[in-house]
Amino acid sequence: MVAPSSTPIISSFSFLAIIASLLTVAVLPATVSAVPLSTSSRWIVDQSGQRVKLACVNWVSHLEAVVAEGLSKQPVDAISKRIASLGFNCVRLSWPTFLATNDTLASVTVRQSFQSLGLSESIAGLQSNNPSIVDLTLIQAYQAVVSSLGKNNVMVILDNQVSKPGWCCSSSDGNGFFGDQYFNPDIWIKGLTRMATLFKGVANVVGMSLRNELRGPKQNVDDWYKYMQRGAEAVHSANPDVLVILSGLNYDKDLSFLADRPVNLTFSGKTVYEVHWYGFSDGQAWKSGNPNQVCGAVVNNMKRKSGFLLEKGFPLFVSEFGVDQRGTM
Ligand SMILES: *[C@@H]1O[C@H](CO)[C@@H](O)[C@H](O)[C@H]1NC(C)=O
Ligand SMILES: *[C@@H]1O[C@H](CO)[C@@H](O)[C@H](O)[C@H]1NC(C)=O
Repeated sequence: MVAPSSTPIISSFSFLAIIASLLTVAVLPATVSAVPLSTSSRWIVDQSGQRVKLACVNWVSHLEAVVAEGLSKQPVDAISKRIASLGFNCVRLSWPTFLATNDTLASVTVRQSFQSLGLSESIAGLQSNNPSIVDLTLIQAYQAVVSSLGKNNVMVILDNQVSKPGWCCSSSDGNGFFGDQYFNPDIWIKGLTRMATLFKGVANVVGMSLRNELRGPKQNVDDWYKYMQRGAEAVHSANPDVLVILSGLNYDKDLSFLADRPVNLTFSGKTVYEVHWYGFSDGQAWKSGNPNQVCGAVVNNMKRKSGFLLEKGFPLFVSEFGVDQRGTM
């Protein structure tokens, strides 16, 4: 998720609000009992072949505290119920690689994590709103959130957002591409494998997105194929039930390279691509241009960068989109 760095938490909530206001259309309810999901051409389908349209909320759990945001404010079940009542059937729940690969980090308790950040007010909030979570370890707390969503019939996509816990994303944050400071491909594969294994058999975990918003000076197409194929195979062999979701280059705005070079995987019926688009993805175009022309250009651009995948027979998951609510873009 890219956002102005000054107010990460507010940004994520306003982003959630945007999605909420845009997606009031009826969604096809997918009961968690009809999983695992698979793909049929451009559609995601359930066990009976019925189309399942994912309507997800992004729920951030990859920040410094490595705890799903908001648990100091509301009981987890209240949040899950609220998500479902707004018409969503899914959460894209982010996680940092190190939660799965650093056992010391994974075994820190929620209370200790907030203590180490000096967030005593949040501990008090957690204590009153989520007493059953506050003394769990970080990995158990993550599982508790997934479980609460499952009880409320909300599907989950485990989203590997960053390696090192913290707000995502910039081109120089060391989390952008294979080989960056915090992005060792082998550790990433280990993390994906561990998460896929941990959630094997957890019915509401329907997908895993391999990595959010690849970016930065090291990004290149050859390494994208090399490592994304390895990541996809690792997830699938550890947990063949989940959809394997692959994101593109340049902050997940560009999958154009797939037009003439398909991904080569040993499995089929599980591959989904994801793309991101924000108002600011088009720079100042919307501010200064003729809206009809800008709209046409943006649509054509998006078809060329990612939309063409639908015609190639793959589902395309628009996993982040939004506009600046301050009205400046
Ligand atoms: C693992 O996590 C602990 C606790 O957050 C941290 O002190 C340590 O530096 C981490 N180790 C690595 C290799 O990232
Ligand atoms: C696809 O991968 C298989 C091994 O999994 C390999 O034998 C084959 O040559 C690859 N095909 C292409 C076109 O790269």
